[in-house]
Amino acid sequence: MAFTKKTVRDIDVAGKKVLMRVDFNVPLKDGVVTDDTRVRAAIPTIQYLKEQGAGIILISHLGRPAGTGFEPAFTLRPAAEKLAELTGYDVKFIEDTYGDEAAAACAAVKPGDILVLENVRFLKAEKKNDPAVAEKLASYADIFVLDAFGTAHRAQGSVVGPAAYIPAVAGFLLEKEVDTLTSIFAEPERPFVAIVGGSKVSSKIGVLDHLIDSADTLIIGGGMAYTFFLAKGYSVGTSLQEPDWIEAAGKMLEKAEAKGCKILLPIDNVVTDDFAENNVIETVDSDKIPDDRMGMDIGPKTVELYCDAVKGAKTVFWNGPMGVFEKDAFAKGTEAVARAIADSDCTSIIGGGDSVAAINKFGLADKMSWISTGGGASMELVEGKALPGVEALLDA
Ligand code: 3PG
Repeated sequence: MAFTKKTVRDIDVAGKKVLMRVDFNVPLKDGVVTDDTRVRAAIPTIQYLKEQGAGIILISHLGRPAGTGFEPAFTLRPAAEKLAELTGYDVKFIEDTYGDEAAAACAAVKPGDILVLENVRFLKAEKKNDPAVAEKLASYADIFVLDAFGTAHRAQGSVVGPAAYIPAVAGFLLEKEVDTLTSIFAEPERPFVAIVGGSKVSSKIGVLDHLIDSADTLIIGGGMAYTFFLAKGYSVGTSLQEPDWIEAAGKMLEKAEAKGCKILLPIDNVVTDDFAENNVIETVDSDKIPDDRMGMDIGPKTVELYCDAVKGAKTVFWNGPMGVFEKDAFAKGTEAVARAIADSDCTSIIGGGDSVAAINKFGLADKMSWISTGGGASMELVEGKALPGVEALLDA
């Protein structure tokens, strides 16, 4: 319901060349893709275009290269190889994006072909949204398809630019992401429980603000909880804290009360005297954190409280871990919340970023209703912001 732009279904692609912007910004280790989620997510649109008889030219960024030319650590070749492996399609890769070699390779694309160009960010002009980049890329094809949801919040050349030159529509992933992440807030099945964790209040203030407007219960965990404790007048020892955001956290608590959104903060915490796992680890109530201790995870009483709230929910939105889950000693809170969501019948939407890494770590990905492929993009959407990439597409 929420998607108002044309998609690949609304345009005739048969026999046409399609320039498709994907988000193949995948993690690599020694030149091998270590998490292929984003490559998999692009396949339905690629498959559809191929079956319709389009010639496909794929473009993407990978990482944040300097923008001064080729850097081996950021080549898209491994992602292209992964696409070939996952689909069994013949996927051609070319180590050029804007030069004569790329132009010649694109000119040679036939219906059903798949060509992957090199990282669009090897040229600074991409990030600067230089129209020359967009014009060049658009000259390779007849139609532009944006399926890079994870990058749709970036007003960069390969994301928003081609739409000025050739008809531009959405791919299936972009459509599904936008639809899912907007309709959950427009008409959630209630009770709607939102869970927000992660280290900083400052980076999620817009998200928290928006969630208070729509959720029945807002659960807060992770490092950001300590700034909320300060707003309530508790001491937080050496825990992560953002003094400049105490007032904003206090205002969030007041707003939630006025709006009838129940905020749950940790009632107990796993604390340590040092960041290392082998040091003193103990559990203390939230108003009794000693001066020389730092909070690392929610405690067992909080786990029970949070899991009970999840059990009663019909819709859950989750973004951000409950503690330092990368370290086993401090992963219990995040794992318990993830398992409570997985065990529930609720519609569960996971808003990208670290919570996705946590869900993968605990092997619960197939138990969630939707896991967003976007980090920053999904947060901006949840905040109610328009995504420049989506805005540039043709209206339905
Ligand atoms: C992401 O990983 O969030 C997207 O691919 C966007 O990458 P960026 O933050 O480097 O623009």
